[in-house]
Amino acid sequence: MNIAVIGATGTIGRAVSKLLRDEGHQVIKSSRNTNPPINIDSPDSIEQYYRQINSVDAVICAAGNASFGPLPQLSDKQFEIGLNSKLMGQVNVVRRGLEILEDPTTYILTSGMLSHSPWPGTSAVSMVNAGLESFVKAAALDLEDENRVCVVSPPLIKETARKMGRDPDPWPTASKTAQAYLKALESDTSGTTIYVEGYEPDGS
Ligand SMILES: NC(=O)c1ccc[n+]([C@@H]2O[C@H](COP(=O)([O-])OP(=O)(O)OC[C@H]3O[C@@H](n4cnc5c(N)ncnc54)[C@H](OP(=O)(O)O)[C@@H]3O)[C@@H](O)[C@H]2O)c1
Repeated sequence: MNIAVIGATGTIGRAVSKLLRDEGHQVIKSSRNTNPPINIDSPDSIEQYYRQINSVDAVICAAGNASFGPLPQLSDKQFEIGLNSKLMGQVNVVRRGLEILEDPTTYILTSGMLSHSPWPGTSAVSMVNAGLESFVKAAALDLEDENRVCVVSPPLIKETARKMGRDPDPWPTASKTAQAYLKALESDTSGTTIYVEGYEPDGS
């Protein structure tokens, strides 16, 4: 398959791109600093990017920013970052794709475990993750012509935990996490939240 990976130079996106290439897929590695560039915070940038790539079998988005911090200290601007980037950025990756891409496309977005297992200082990003999971559930009901949309909910990644100075031991590597994206790609599911094996929420 021909797959555009947005955020392909990041911790998750790099591992997803490698796994897909190892599986024999063609990967268009994309970010704000690639050619063509894409900035998901800007609907115009998404549009220009899609007009250049024209048609792909799947778009995987492992990009999008959101703010962390205790609720009493979070500013309006910090909430807006998550809403404009990680939430509406990824929603617009789907919306603009449906308008512009020529063939049926699978859209795989990224949320995160904080939607179901928040910890203190995560209200803004937890809200965004939950919004993405509800978005795909409902959006799938409106899709036609074999278009699909789902979201992968990664836990904290081992490499990221290390960078944050947290204990990396409980968490999966980016390469294990990439398997969840492959599962989303290879299944025929739509509207679902897909978890890394062994990191499903209690009761799912
Ligand atoms: N790492 C974790 O533990 C973890 C856990 C759960 C969920 N997540 C979510 O997974 C996603 C990726 O996380 P990550 O840790 O892999 O991030 P990362 O290492 O910081 O990499 C981010 C990637 O996205 C690109 N990017 C950033 N802003 C962008 C924008 N506005 N438009 C297009 N591309 C953009 C970056 O490249 P450029 O700078 O070149 O654009 C880079 O390729 C995030 O949404 C994060 O919330 C991460």
